Amino acid sequence: MRGWCGEAFSTLVHQSGFCRAWNLRNPPRREILHSAEGLTFKPIARRGPPMHRFDLTTDLTTGNADIDSQHLALFAIANEILFSSELMRSPALFRRAVASLVAHLEYGFASEELAMYQRGYIRRRFHTAFHDHVRSEVQAIVARLDRDGQPGEVRQAIFFMLEDWVTYHVAPADRELAEHLREQAQSGTLPTLPDVGPLRSAGKLAADFDEQLLAL
Ligand SMILES: [Fe+2]
Repeated sequence: MRGWCGEAFSTLVHQSGFCRAWNLRNPPRREILHSAEGLTFKPIARRGPPMHRFDLTTDLTTGNADIDSQHLALFAIANEILFSSELMRSPALFRRAVASLVAHLEYGFASEELAMYQRGYIRRRFHTAFHDHVRSEVQAIVARLDRDGQPGEVRQAIFFMLEDWVTYHVAPADRELAEHLREQAQSGTLPTLPDVGPLRSAGKLAADFDEQLLAL
């Protein structure tokens, strides 16, 4: 368990059969538990930092043009969801923006996962496990929006989900993947990720995946 968890996090403390992971560069906002059931995020009691905009800062830049452009587009729609007063006044526009965020995440995860498979990335199981964790969080957020229709709470849930993702996944794991893709690329070629068409053909994106949601 130590080796499996140790690929992702800075410091590990094992207690009661769980792997408790802490990222030393950033104060933890959540305790991450890994057990046989998978990854669990447990909120830590906090006053709570105010929501901030997401930017492609130096520590989040992977150096892979495709991954970075996907993250840039995702941050743009996330910032709209978090801070647009126009979206707060229109439930329909808010739902459309959330659907776009989900599409960006699905597309980004699928393209990384197919690239990891095609390039024989040894850590793809662990990398994909974090994608799956985010997918389950996103599903819960969308279900909550469908059930309650409260954009304020959904905004906060999206903010914390993205904070965990950029802190515990983009900064360490996506940068490692970008380095692997760079090493694997043949001389003179760019380490590109598969686009929507190949992802559909490989079954990594649903046949009815709405590509237009990526253009918002
Ligand atoms: Fe990833």
